[in-house]
Amino acid sequence: MPTTGDDTRYRPGDDPGPGVLVTGGTGKVGRELVTLLRGHGVPVRVASRAPVAEDPDSVPFDWFDRGTHAAALDGQDRIFLVTPPNSADPADPVIPFLDEAHRRGVRTVVLLSSAVPLQPRAPELAARVRDQSGGIVLRPSGFMQNFLSPHPVGRQILRDGEIRTASGAGRMGWIDLRDIAACAAALLLADRAAPQADQRDYLLTGPRTLSYVEAAAIISATAAKPVRVVHTDEEALAADLQTVGFSAEFAAIYARAEAGARSGRDDVVSTAVPDLTGRPARTFEQFVRDHAAGWSTAAA
Ligand SMILES: NC(=O)c1ccc[n+]([C@@H]2O[C@H](COP(=O)([O-])OP(=O)(O)OC[C@H]3O[C@@H](n4cnc5c(N)ncnc54)[C@H](OP(=O)(O)O)[C@@H]3O)[C@@H](O)[C@H]2O)c1
Repeated sequence: MPTTGDDTRYRPGDDPGPGVLVTGGTGKVGRELVTLLRGHGVPVRVASRAPVAEDPDSVPFDWFDRGTHAAALDGQDRIFLVTPPNSADPADPVIPFLDEAHRRGVRTVVLLSSAVPLQPRAPELAARVRDQSGGIVLRPSGFMQNFLSPHPVGRQILRDGEIRTASGAGRMGWIDLRDIAACAAALLLADRAAPQADQRDYLLTGPRTLSYVEAAAIISATAAKPVRVVHTDEEALAADLQTVGFSAEFAAIYARAEAGARSGRDDVVSTAVPDLTGRPARTFEQFVRDHAAGWSTAAA
C-alpha cells in the first residue's frame, strides 16, 4: 500500500485521479489533510460554509442545506467526511449525503468518527460507511490538540490554568491530529491502486496512553505553563463545558463519554499510525514542544 505523511513513501507521478472532496476542509484535521493531498498533486475541493471567493477549489457546503451537496460532490471520486461538529445527531444530514455520493459512484469515503461513539447514532453512521463499497472508518482517540485553545479544555487551561475532568485516573490514547490527517491521506491515495481495501475500520491512537494528570505534568514541564487537574463529576463537567462554548446537549454527551474513561475503557493503543504512514505516531512530548507557544502568556 502506498503510504504518506511527513516521511512519504508515496510515488509522485502516479495519476492523481479526479479529486477528493474534503468536508470540514477548513477545520483542524481537514486543513492538514488538504495540505498533504495537494503536496501529492491530488486535486482537492475544500467544502465550507464560507468558501474563499478567490479559490476555485473552495465550494459552498452546509450539512444543513442539502441544496449545496450535489455541486460539492460533482466530479469528485473520493470524500473525507467530517460530520457536523458538536451536533447531537450528525447521522441525520450525513446519511442522505452518503446515499447521493453512492449514486454518483464515489469510490472512497473516509469517515472521521471517534474511538468512543459520542452521539447515540454514531455507530449507525459508522456502520453505514463501512458497509458501502470503498467506505473506511477512522476512530481516533482524543486529540492532543484538545489541550490547546479553541477547544474547551485548552481554553480552560489558558483561562484558569486548570483542567477539570470526570475521567479520574483513566488513561486515553491521545493522538496528534497531524497523524490522523496522515492516515487519511494514505488511505485516500492508496485507493487509486487498491479500490477494495481489506480493512474498513481503524482505531487511531498515539504511541501510549496518558491520564489528564500525566498530560498536565508534561505541559507544565515542557511548555513552562503550570496546569493543575481538578477532578469533578459528569454533571459538573457538563455545566463547565457550557461556560466555554459547548451546547447543553453536546456538553452532556461529551461529559458522559469522558466519565466512561474512569473504568480504563480508553486505555488502549493501536499500531494503525505506523502501519498506515510508515513512521511512529507522534508522542505527547513532541506535540507539546511543537505547540509550546500555544500556552504562552501571549496566547492567553
Ligand atoms: N477533538 C477530539 O478529541 C476528537 C476525537 C475523536 C473524533 N473527533 C471528531 O473530529 C471532528 C472535528 O474535527 P476538527 O477538530 O478537525 O474540526 P474543527 O476544527 O472543529 O472544524 C469543524 C469543521 O466543520 C465545518 N463545519 C461546521 N459546521 C458545518 C456545517 N453546518 N456544514 C458544513 N461544515 C461545517 C467547519 O467548516 P466551516 O466553518 O468552514 O463551514 C470546519 O471545517 C468531529 O467530528 C469530532 O467528533 C474529535
